[in-house]
Amino acid sequence: VAYVENARKLLEASRRGANPFDGATPEIPKGSRLESGSKEFLDSEALGLPHLRECAFVLVAGGLGERLGYGGIKIALPLSLCSERSFLQYYIERIMSYGGDAPLTLMTSDDTHSATLAFLEENNYFGFPRKRLSLVKQEKVPSLSDNRAHFVCAPGNPYALETKPHGHGDVHALLHRAGLPERWLAAGRRWVIFFQDTNGLVFHALPAALGESIRHELAVNSLTVPRRAGEAAGAIVRLKYADGRVITNNVEYNQLDPLLRATVQPAGDVADESGYSPYPGNINALIFGLEAYARQLAIKKGAIPEFINPKYSNAEKTKFKKPTRLECMMQDYTLQLDDARGVGFTQFERHICFSAVKNNLPEAMAKAAANLPIESASSGEMDYYAQERWRLTRAGAVIEPAERRTIAGIPLDIGAFVALGPNYAPSLGTLLQRFKGGRITRSSVLIIEGPDILIEDLDLDGALIVQAVPGAKVHLRGIQVRNRGWKLTELEAGDVCPEELAIRGYRFEKLEERALIFEKPGDYLIEA
Ligand code: UTP
Repeated sequence: VAYVENARKLLEASRRGANPFDGATPEIPKGSRLESGSKEFLDSEALGLPHLRECAFVLVAGGLGERLGYGGIKIALPLSLCSERSFLQYYIERIMSYGGDAPLTLMTSDDTHSATLAFLEENNYFGFPRKRLSLVKQEKVPSLSDNRAHFVCAPGNPYALETKPHGHGDVHALLHRAGLPERWLAAGRRWVIFFQDTNGLVFHALPAALGESIRHELAVNSLTVPRRAGEAAGAIVRLKYADGRVITNNVEYNQLDPLLRATVQPAGDVADESGYSPYPGNINALIFGLEAYARQLAIKKGAIPEFINPKYSNAEKTKFKKPTRLECMMQDYTLQLDDARGVGFTQFERHICFSAVKNNLPEAMAKAAANLPIESASSGEMDYYAQERWRLTRAGAVIEPAERRTIAGIPLDIGAFVALGPNYAPSLGTLLQRFKGGRITRSSVLIIEGPDILIEDLDLDGALIVQAVPGAKVHLRGIQVRNRGWKLTELEAGDVCPEELAIRGYRFEKLEERALIFEKPGDYLIEA
């Protein structure tokens, strides 16, 4: 009853064209903007990195991924074909690389739960201690067919209701119900970090973002990127109400433009002199101070305001194009805070922290044509290599620039395929100590796995794999590698291949490689 009543109220408001932020005056929020690799960035990393082990990590992975249309769960997709690592394995190994005993919680849904559990079981939880891993499952909610909020029968079954995902905002109520925040707090944890299913890059920004949470004593820290005006991404906005209330919250792009037009910016969602919207773009990676979070959960029990976003098929707004439902978003947690103190953001360049996999090839082509972020499995993988190359460049490597190629209709910048293992360099600062200079050609492949490897003056034209077990202290000095390497080959019509390749449109052919594998602890020096 509460669901239907709330739906009717929100549908009525939607018909009237009401904005949930009506009555608020938007302002640009206060936050930190860190230039990747700058002294401030490295200082914040150094401050945050040792504290990542004191965090609890929460991965929201209940989304169906309709736009991608992949048959499996998104977290099982390879982040990189070269390292053969899935998103989930990468996340787990990253968290383990921080040391300590940080717990990980996955929010699943009926669409993803059994496949997630099976994937973890099949892979022995990727070495993550099972007692530190929790799964909480969200429920789906009934679809609504009209403004009176009538339910819809499930396709082909008049005795069941059609249901849809309720959004990642359920995570707070589920964590509260499972008693996890209280337990983490009692165990001495200090922060909780929320992240999404297919954005591997976010881990490059977490150490510095946590450093900013510590420096500014932030109860809520949203990771943001410069937002293009009109981009279909939410913005962090400080909202001032006539009664003196101030909140800092995410405003979705479809609400931002009308809000700005009605208040401070008659031109709406436009760029300022920087070329970007003055409002930071939300990437939905959040760091909360655990104490304040647990306190707030005890009051509101994790309830997050719902919203509805029907697409109408007539001008009178009486018919829907397809059934809709109530949803909630995890970032709307800040709507219920009494004031905006302690709510901030940390902004990074997009290339270091955000590239998600959301779109199938036809949709990705349409995005590319509209000059919008492509967000395909292929662009996600290439953005990952690009970021690894950028990091090596900061560490003194000279890398041949990437070249633009169109693969399966998607324009991709293809350069050296560099995959640095999650335990090789958990921050840029650590990488600067472990990699010093060298030359790498565009078609090369470089895979480095191991916590204690120092590489100096590498000369690479081909494929090189360096793998060392913990306890193996490896020093490679001035080595030269020349071989035929691996080749990225575009799939051809009719090629039979696994779905994770088909959604990319390419595969790798391993022609030749040099592998330096160190399987026993000890000190190793390899020189030219
Ligand atoms: P996305 O925006 O990628 O949506 O979700 P989606 O539902 O997964 O994909 P589409 O829209 O059907 O194509 C952002 C994050 O929120 C999680 C997703 O798993 C992803 O990590 N999510 C989304 C949930 O956990 N639950 C939901 O109900 C929806």
